[in-house]
Amino acid sequence: MITKNTIDKVFETARVEEVIGDFVYLKKAGSNFKGLSPFADEKTPSFMVSPVKQIWKDFSSGKGGNVVTFLMEHEHYSYPEALRYLAKKYNIEIEETEQTDEQKIQASERESMYLVSEFAKNYFHDTLLNNQKGIAIGLSYFKERGFTTETIEKFELGYALDEWTVFTDTALEKKYSLEFLEKTGLTIVNDNRKFDRFKGRILFPIHSMSGRVLGFGGRTLLKDKKVAKYLNSPESEIYHKSKVLYGIYQAKQSIAQNDNCYLVEGYTDVISLHQSGIVNVVASSGTALTSDQIRLINRLTPNITVLFDGDAAGVRASLRGIDLILEQGMNVKVVAFLDGEDPDSFARKTSPDQLKDYLEKNSKDFIQFKASLLLEDSQNDPIKRASLIRDIVFSISKIPNNIQREIYIQECSRIMDISEKVLFDELAQIIKKEQKIASDKIRQMQPRITGVKKETQQASKIDKLYILEKKIIEILLLYGNEEVNFIDYVSVIDDEGNRSIKKEEYKNKVSNEIYTHLHDDEIEFTNEIFKNIYYEIIYQLNQNNEITSETFTQHLDLEMGKAVSNLIMDEEKYVLSDWERKEIYVKQKSKPLQKLVSDVIYRLRKILIDEKIDSLKNEIPQFKEEDEDFETKSIENLTLVQDYNNLKKLISEKLNIVVG
Ligand code: CTP
Ligand code: MN
Repeated sequence: MITKNTIDKVFETARVEEVIGDFVYLKKAGSNFKGLSPFADEKTPSFMVSPVKQIWKDFSSGKGGNVVTFLMEHEHYSYPEALRYLAKKYNIEIEETEQTDEQKIQASERESMYLVSEFAKNYFHDTLLNNQKGIAIGLSYFKERGFTTETIEKFELGYALDEWTVFTDTALEKKYSLEFLEKTGLTIVNDNRKFDRFKGRILFPIHSMSGRVLGFGGRTLLKDKKVAKYLNSPESEIYHKSKVLYGIYQAKQSIAQNDNCYLVEGYTDVISLHQSGIVNVVASSGTALTSDQIRLINRLTPNITVLFDGDAAGVRASLRGIDLILEQGMNVKVVAFLDGEDPDSFARKTSPDQLKDYLEKNSKDFIQFKASLLLEDSQNDPIKRASLIRDIVFSISKIPNNIQREIYIQECSRIMDISEKVLFDELAQIIKKEQKIASDKIRQMQPRITGVKKETQQASKIDKLYILEKKIIEILLLYGNEEVNFIDYVSVIDDEGNRSIKKEEYKNKVSNEIYTHLHDDEIEFTNEIFKNIYYEIIYQLNQNNEITSETFTQHLDLEMGKAVSNLIMDEEKYVLSDWERKEIYVKQKSKPLQKLVSDVIYRLRKILIDEKIDSLKNEIPQFKEEDEDFETKSIENLTLVQDYNNLKKLISEKLNIVVG
């Protein structure tokens, strides 16, 4: 186990904005940062990071917490994994209490798969650089292709010896289990035989955004057409082909800095461009681009430049990718290479400056590109020309933003020499068709939606309690230490027996005021987490500690930490200017603190008293012949109900005065 000392050091050192900045492109927004949610598909930023409070909140998914919870949510790390990651990032030495064998076995399946992949990457890399055959076969191949040592290191390239089991044997010797060798696909197990999947291939490790090895692409060195050129890791718990982009780990910073991402097809394209100074580049690894992959880029920049190989079949297949990018509200440009040329071969032929120049001069927006591509063979064919125009308008219809759509229509009109009116009509028709499809879908979902509604109505009382309890915790955290003038209204009866309400003013610490009220009524929070936070706050108060949110956001109890971060960030969200779109209600004109506190306390008390009365009414004893105490019991019960009703009336009165 990691010691408390180390955990404290990690929290002291780690900066939430730096850590999250490695995954999400963050822009300054007042005293906070904001960015696109990494947990949802969105076009307007709803993800916030507070450097002052060292917490984050994602308003799309409702997730939030501290630096550790971010890594747990985003990278699916366990608590210790997240701490280790941070310790590594900030060069903090980890002190550890000894792990038992049982704990070792318990380390999660995914973690085991990550570990064995990491081991494999190091092993293959070492083979490439230090093994005689590795050098003679693997390294010399890379060198022949012009890859420098620096590049080989940067991409952690490797080589698997052309032997059946040497890797598997070594891994087993090092106590990695066959189960995870098989699950990651590194070892193929067939009946009782097992052998190395990548035998005889040069290897490209595939990293996650944060640099974990998820899988490998293995290229054969044989010219034999019957041998598959690439063999990749199979889909697994940690490797989902459709959700990764080759090179994203090495490119992410440059993508954010340049505010553009080049997209290529192959591993070697990425590496060659890197070596020629174009670092903001990733590959879809030969498959059709997926929206998950596009979203990965969208976290870093809204701009993609697709580089097409110079063969016609490839281009046509990739055109669909453009529509997908447009659909995400991103901007897409296209660079085509001449027939038979790909980014890798082109980069090798030209100087870095020439390459940069070529990319800049030849990048076209998608309309120009589609038009130029298809125009050649349709110039004099009206039918083909019409279908090309429809094709372009279809792409335009995918753009979510109206203004942008209009601009593209204008451009299409110019390039294709056709009136804007006709294009807008065509666009309207396409959109109508798409909307019908969408509304049909919604109709199919309708029954489920009404089902949910009913449930929420039933839950409304619990909701009210939840909101009030939450509000109280919020107030305690944000203003607990503040001294405020409170006003109470006590009912007095004068000599003539007339009842009147008298105003009393007194000074009190907000936390004390709340504590006294709740304590007097013996109020218990119904929500477990709030209850824990509340008692923790009271504990801190009794120790005469100032209540700071850090005490809680970094609390060892993760649930508590998360809940507190969420509460605080809910307050912060009003800072953002463009919330209207998200339809997050605007904060009511803020009440003076004193009113806010009294208001919440009285409301909570009222609800709880209601509940008490209800339960008392249900408890009215049934008359039984043999029960001698029946009368006393009944009267006691009725008196209690009456007392509570009076109390309720009093509170209602106070509430009216306070709120009114
Ligand atoms: N690919 C694959 N399986 C194959 C062929 C290709 O997964 N059988 C993927 C690889 O990710 C490859 C990409 O498609 O990088 C592009 O394929 P290709 O251009 O054939 O490979 P390159 O990586 O460019 O290899 P090279 O430059 O050595 O030809
Ligand atoms: Mn290629």
